[in-house]
Amino acid sequence: MKVSQDLVSDVAEVLLTEEQIAAKVAELGQRITADYAGHELTLVSVLKGSLPFMADLMRRISLPVRIDLMEVSSYGGNATESSGLVRILKDLSAPIEGRDVLLVEDIIDTGLTLNYLLRYLKGKNPRSIKVCSLLDKPARRLVEFPLDYVGFEIPDAFVVGYGLDFGEVYRNLRFVGVLRPEAYES
Ligand code: PRP
Repeated sequence: MKVSQDLVSDVAEVLLTEEQIAAKVAELGQRITADYAGHELTLVSVLKGSLPFMADLMRRISLPVRIDLMEVSSYGGNATESSGLVRILKDLSAPIEGRDVLLVEDIIDTGLTLNYLLRYLKGKNPRSIKVCSLLDKPARRLVEFPLDYVGFEIPDAFVVGYGLDFGEVYRNLRFVGVLRPEAYES
């Protein structure tokens, strides 16, 4: 894998600009604030991809918010395909029983990770559980479930930036872009 120093040279096309993302995150924050008015909310984010989205979204929600972080890894797959087998690397640090939980993801692709996580978290008896994902790639969905809040529907392209990686790189790009095939084929 050959990564250019400026990262940007490895991007074929900017799919979502920094400004488009910021406007959408603000809009999602407003909707969530209105929908959960009068409640406390627990945001559960799934590392590492959702880190920038979580950090920006939580500051756009005007409610008492608690945060918790999980990290999972899919195994048996490869860098561009998930396998559906999920291993918990970092679990919740506080109980969610009786709490309103919003699961914050960067992207829903096959849906296998989220499907596993939703079942796992529902088993902890939250008062409610909903999902907020910045990106939705419906073309690759293998498991269907309702997505309560979605930022953008995107085509079936290999995207990086704003948390999304290829080989753990490109997460710090401020926009979401399509990676040049040369960057992942070499
Ligand atoms: C990404 C993303 C979701 C999952 C979605 O995580 O953050 O958790 O893949 O894919 P799926 O719908 O096909 O299951 P990834 O495993 O790449 O880890 P990362 O967040 O650390 O990059």
